[in-house]
Amino acid sequence: MTGAEFDHLYGEAEPELVAASAGARQYSPLFPGSPDLAKAPPGSLNGLAMLAPPGTLERRFAIAEALRALAPGAKLMALAPKDKGGSRLAGDLRALGCVFEETARRHHRICVTQGRGDSGAVAAAIEAGAARFIVSTGLWSQPGVFSWNRIDPGSALLTAHLPALKGAGADLGCGIGALSLRVLASPAVSRLTMIDIDRRAIEMAGRNVSDPRAVMLWADARAAGSLKGLDFVVMNPPFHEGGIENQALGRGFIGCAAGALRSGGVCWLTANRHLPYEAVLKPLFKRVNLIAEDGGYKIYEARK
Ligand SMILES: C[S@@+](CC[C@H](N)C(=O)[O-])C[C@H]1O[C@@H](n2cnc3c(N)ncnc32)[C@H](O)[C@@H]1O
Repeated sequence: MTGAEFDHLYGEAEPELVAASAGARQYSPLFPGSPDLAKAPPGSLNGLAMLAPPGTLERRFAIAEALRALAPGAKLMALAPKDKGGSRLAGDLRALGCVFEETARRHHRICVTQGRGDSGAVAAAIEAGAARFIVSTGLWSQPGVFSWNRIDPGSALLTAHLPALKGAGADLGCGIGALSLRVLASPAVSRLTMIDIDRRAIEMAGRNVSDPRAVMLWADARAAGSLKGLDFVVMNPPFHEGGIENQALGRGFIGCAAGALRSGGVCWLTANRHLPYEAVLKPLFKRVNLIAEDGGYKIYEARK
């Protein structure tokens, strides 16, 4: 697209839109193990291609971190599908004081700049997208993590129906730890493995949950094969990837829970009412009970 290959990436854009060098380094917080762009020394990167995230505060934060990390004259290519933040990219770059060129291709808007923007505007965007304590939830959070500034209604409904659990368990897709805190309120819980694919969520969970029984993993839950023989799993499974509905994710989470539980172990799950999870749960569990249905959400208890 631009003629040059990028050695540094944030997110995974279509290869038709971004040419990445072999061994290009990934900085997205959604790729477990990737380095944090905020920790790249200022002026150290020779160029970066970013599939910009859809949320405004998160997107401006990520673009600002990239501008801070780029060497003078290095190229930033920021792109996004038109309806997932792409149509706002030009405004973002303008607000950050960048001179840029904009093109459109394959339903994406693509902006390329070689300036480092206005340092005051860049610093302000970094501050606006940074981690913070949310008084109304009593939790640390950051724009970009799931339901970042309010408790998700599905999770609130699960919390209201969850009994005091016992033994060793896991919170798959733990986010910033809202469900985990409820689980750990039971003194009979001996260990809780909290897994999320988002580095920021795990960092915030680390601030929110200071309990020696909790172990936090920045990982893809579907690949966490080490979870075996658990007494319980709790989850509010994701069903969006890159802003697009993907029911296979939820099915993968349910399969992972079934594989991680001992016989007789229990999975507590909350889901949007429209998701067809009952049909996924039934072949994998001995008993599936619909415990509650309210406000567009369903709560299931599935016994292995
Ligand atoms: C619906 S949210 C629930 C978050 C939290 N449990 C709550 O109740 O607020 C789903 C979470 O799953 C995480 N997630 C998405 N895909 C994942 C994957 N493959 N492995 C682990 N976590 C994932 C997301 O980052 C998000 O935090």
